[in-house]
Parts: sequence; structure tokens; C-alpha cells
Amino acid sequence: MLAPFKGLTNKAYRNAHARHFGGFDGHMAPFVSGTGIRAVAPSKIADLVPVTENLCPTIPQIISTSAEEIILFGKAMHAQGYNHINWNLGCPFPRIANKKRGCGLLPHPGEIHRILDRVFREIPIELSVKTRLGYQHHAEILEVLPILDQYPLREITIHPRIGTQVYRGEVNHPGFAACLQATRHQVIYNGDVYNLSQYLSIKARFPSIRSWMLGRGLLMDPFLALEIKGMRISDAHKREMLHAFHLELLANPCGNENKQLGYLKSVWYYMAGCFAPGEALFASIKTSRSLAQYRELLPKVFEAPLAGEEQKEAYFRHAIKHIGRDPNFAM
Ligand SMILES: Cc1cc2nc3c(=O)[nH]c(=O)nc-3n(C[C@H](O)[C@H](O)[C@H](O)COP(=O)(O)O)c2cc1C
Repeated sequence: MLAPFKGLTNKAYRNAHARHFGGFDGHMAPFVSGTGIRAVAPSKIADLVPVTENLCPTIPQIISTSAEEIILFGKAMHAQGYNHINWNLGCPFPRIANKKRGCGLLPHPGEIHRILDRVFREIPIELSVKTRLGYQHHAEILEVLPILDQYPLREITIHPRIGTQVYRGEVNHPGFAACLQATRHQVIYNGDVYNLSQYLSIKARFPSIRSWMLGRGLLMDPFLALEIKGMRISDAHKREMLHAFHLELLANPCGNENKQLGYLKSVWYYMAGCFAPGEALFASIKTSRSLAQYRELLPKVFEAPLAGEEQKEAYFRHAIKHIGRDPNFAM
């Protein structure tokens, strides 16, 4: 499963990934919010409709503390042809979590109970949850899982960090193991899978896990899902695929020139890690002041040697330090 990234994995990115790389059984779309309790405005779901445009089965996601809003969103998505939505109980960004949304709701299991009780009386579509170990403490989730067990959720995706870590620091595998003991639901693992060896080592640690959600590791190395599924691709072919993927993103305007340049820089913040000189490549891309300047840099970028496993790990460790701190690139 492809992880959602607000501002990055929009429909154009998801479809370009499916067209040029693939390897996923599903894509989770970034969250929508403020959809209201009367009618869902078309602008809120523009990234999700029509469902037939999705090149890979897609799961819409909502962030909300209103049962009525979740129900209405579920009804709207059902009417559009979706069969599954996801409730975000994991977002750690302070402007969200401080308002008791995303992981900010985890210290309040009673509220989660009340919301689910109301939602499951009326929702016409399958519901899953994406969450983390807690907001302030890794044991918060252990109070929430027994509540989730009372409802027929499709599955729970767990990122083994707490909210105050945002996406930095170490993942807490003992904390994840405790979750597996504490729930009857199927669990999807999500966190710091950035190369094949890392995937294999986490898989060996958690042999019961059948589903995996790939995030930054995939944004960095778009071949990762394919490689996990056993596909081996030559460097020459990889280069062609990366090039074609990037051309499709470039041809898909997302606002004015500045906005598009900003978007492409965000893509490269991660994708530079696919190339051996990742940090230096990104540093040069970051300096482009116009799309014309950016286009001039590209041939050099695509000539760079591809990164090996160790280089990918080093880039990942470098990149995650800035997430949540560098508002321009990592949001
Ligand atoms: C910039 C950014 C935006 C994100 N947007 C969302 C989102 O819309 N919904 C969500 O559930 N998670 C979101 N996430 C979290 C990722 O989906 C994923 O859970 C996280 O990156 C951890 O997985 P990884 O270690 O494989 O990257 C976001 C993360 C980042 C850094």
C-alpha cells in the first residue's frame, strides 16, 4: 500500500507512479478535512473523483472528530463508487494534533469510542484506521485498541512512533509488537521501510504481518514496491522509468509556475535519494528559481549514478531529520 502524503501524493503523482512503476495493491489518498455535515463540496473531493480515473485501487482518507462528518464523507465516497474509507488517527503536526485531531485524539479513548459508536450506526462503507502509538506516550494506543476491537474495522495501519516525534527519531518496534498482542484486527505495518534489506529485517521481526504501507522510502526509491514483490530491474531501465515518471509530473501543472516548482522540489526532496549523490543533487535542484532553470538542470540529474542500499539508508536518515522542520520541502 502506498502511504498518503498531503501535498505530494495527489492523483497526478499516484497515477504517474502506477503508470511508470506500479507494485502496489492500493494507494491511500491524503486526508481531506472540513467536509462538513450537510453536503461535501466538490472542491474537497476533486482529488478523488471520478473513481474510474484511479489507476490503482484508492482509499479516501478523512481527518475529523465529527461522527456526522465521517458518515457523510462515507456516504459521498460510497455514492462515487468507493468501498472503503480510512479515518486518520495519526497525524502528528501540531496544528492538527493540538486540536485533538489526528494523533491528538489518542489520549482520549472515550471520545474515540463515542465517535465510532455513532459512525457504525450509519456508515454505508468499510472503515479502516491509520494511527500511531500515541500522542505523548507510546502506551496510549493500548487504551485505544480494545475500543477499536469492538467495531468491524477493515484493518488498522500502525506507524510505531508517537506524535511528539513527528516522523523523526527511532521507530519503536517493541511498541508495535505490543499492539499486535492487543488487537484482534488485521494490522498493516508502516514506518521507515527504505530499502529491501530493511523490509526483510522488519518482516523477519513481525512474521504475522501480511500488509505493508510504504511512505518516504517509496518516495525516495519509487521501485521499492516492485522490488519487494521480487522484480529486479537494470539500472539503465530504471533511469528510463524515472525519466518518464518525472516527465509526466512535469506535464501536469499544479497551479502557477511557483507552485509547480515548489511541488517538484518537494518530490525531489525525497527522490534525490534514488541517486548516489542524493544530498548534492537536491541542493542543486533547490536553488532553481524558475521552471526554465530547473529544466536545464535535469539532464545532469538523470545522468547521476543510482544509489545502492547503504546510500539509500544514509539519505533516508538525512532526509527524515528535516521533516516537520523544513516547511518548504518536507511540510
Ligand atoms: C509531508 C507529509 C504528509 C503526510 N500526509 C499524510 C496524510 O495525508 N495522511 C496520513 O495518514 N499520513 C500522512 N503522512 C504520514 C505518512 O503517510 C506515513 O505514515 C509516514 O511517512 C510514516 O511512514 P514512512 O516511515 O514509511 O514514511 C504524511 C507524512 C508526511 C511527512
